[in-house]
Amino acid sequence: MTTPPDALWLQWLLGVLQSGQAALLQALHAVGLVPALYGQPAWPWASRLAGDTLLFDLGQARRLALTLGLLVLALVVAALGLLWRRRRVWLVVVAGLLPLLAPWPQWEAIRVAATPASFHVSPTGFEAGAIVRGHQLYRQLCVDCHGADGRGHGPLAAQQAVWPPNLAGPLLWRRADGDLFWHVLHGMRDARSGQPSMPGFADRLSADDAWALIDAMKALAAGQMLRQTGQWLQPVRLPAFAVRCAGAPGRQSGAALLGQRLRVIAPGAGQVPTPDPRVVTVALAPASGNTDLPHVDAADCEAPQADAWRALALVAGNADDPGALAGTQFIVDREGWLRARAAPDAADWQEDDLVCRAPSDASPSPSAPASATRLTALDGLGSLIARMDAEPVRYVKGGLVH
Ligand code: HEC
Repeated sequence: MTTPPDALWLQWLLGVLQSGQAALLQALHAVGLVPALYGQPAWPWASRLAGDTLLFDLGQARRLALTLGLLVLALVVAALGLLWRRRRVWLVVVAGLLPLLAPWPQWEAIRVAATPASFHVSPTGFEAGAIVRGHQLYRQLCVDCHGADGRGHGPLAAQQAVWPPNLAGPLLWRRADGDLFWHVLHGMRDARSGQPSMPGFADRLSADDAWALIDAMKALAAGQMLRQTGQWLQPVRLPAFAVRCAGAPGRQSGAALLGQRLRVIAPGAGQVPTPDPRVVTVALAPASGNTDLPHVDAADCEAPQADAWRALALVAGNADDPGALAGTQFIVDREGWLRARAAPDAADWQEDDLVCRAPSDASPSPSAPASATRLTALDGLGSLIARMDAEPVRYVKGGLVH
């Protein structure tokens, strides 16, 4: 049985593991004990603690939580001992005993191999320009092994000692971004034989390029998952891009819209969206520079950058033909997650358009999209919004869970 990964205490535990180690690293860097690499402190050990296994091993997770609790208690008791002279001996003895009594978890259950960049954080902000640039690099350097769709069937795949993994599944979300970054720059070795398995690209790519590639691979993977299963099995953010909004002169960053529900439209022929007060409507400028497409009167904002269209085409599974995005609409929740997508010819929002949803129904839905039930109590958009609000995207380290 798997642990419900959204159990609050478990999320908290994983959060403590992650931020505790990150804080330790920052502290070591601040006192000059560890150097910076690619602009961020380098993790000095070959292992780190990670919660990935804990999601499946509730027993170990409980032991770890209890041990951490007892260690904190030991620190408090030790601090008291420093202050309270008369009881000092007793308090120090108790503080020393507590860690011995703790039910320490098995080291192997919480240890994973680390890279110097394990705790590096991507500086790109999932920006549309980075995604598009990363995709160009991917096409130049990576498709021979990983394939245009990321599924690992490039022409050189069969010659590799290890078959390239499927990058179009959940893999990129299971890894720490920093580890992916390191593997792209410095390659990988086969865990068993120790032989090089994936080549490194540090001689051809800058750090910015590598981060851009990670964004591009995630966007590509999201699009492939959507094509194959009809859902974004891993939650995807709306790529960041500049917008120009009515009533706000000049360009703003799309981040200014965070906190509001967005309807993002790739304008197509035949479709005239009506204004809707429940959403802020953002119209994308066509990637092709085709200016014949209709102006979207209902739009509150425009995204003039062609990269915004291209990045969303990747996320929507139209990597090879960005023009096919025309007519597609997206709904973004207040936290910035892409939640729903309507196909170009859709007349109204339907339940099946909610393509980023809670894990209980994250398995590919067998019902054909065409025969989707139209919800009657509210209109299509109203019921989508109700479900989105009822099922927010939750964050669990070691894997994002809807
Ligand atoms: C010569 C073939 C080849 C090329 C070219 C190649 N890869 Fe790989 N890649 C592999 C193989 C093989 C693995 C599996 C290695 C393993 O698991 O030991 C892999 C693994 C990966 C992984 C998974 C890393 C992980 O943490 O599990 C990522 C991400 C990746 N490659 C990205 C890229 C990117 C980005 C490029 C282009 C800049 C690229 N690869 C180019 C062969 C290749």
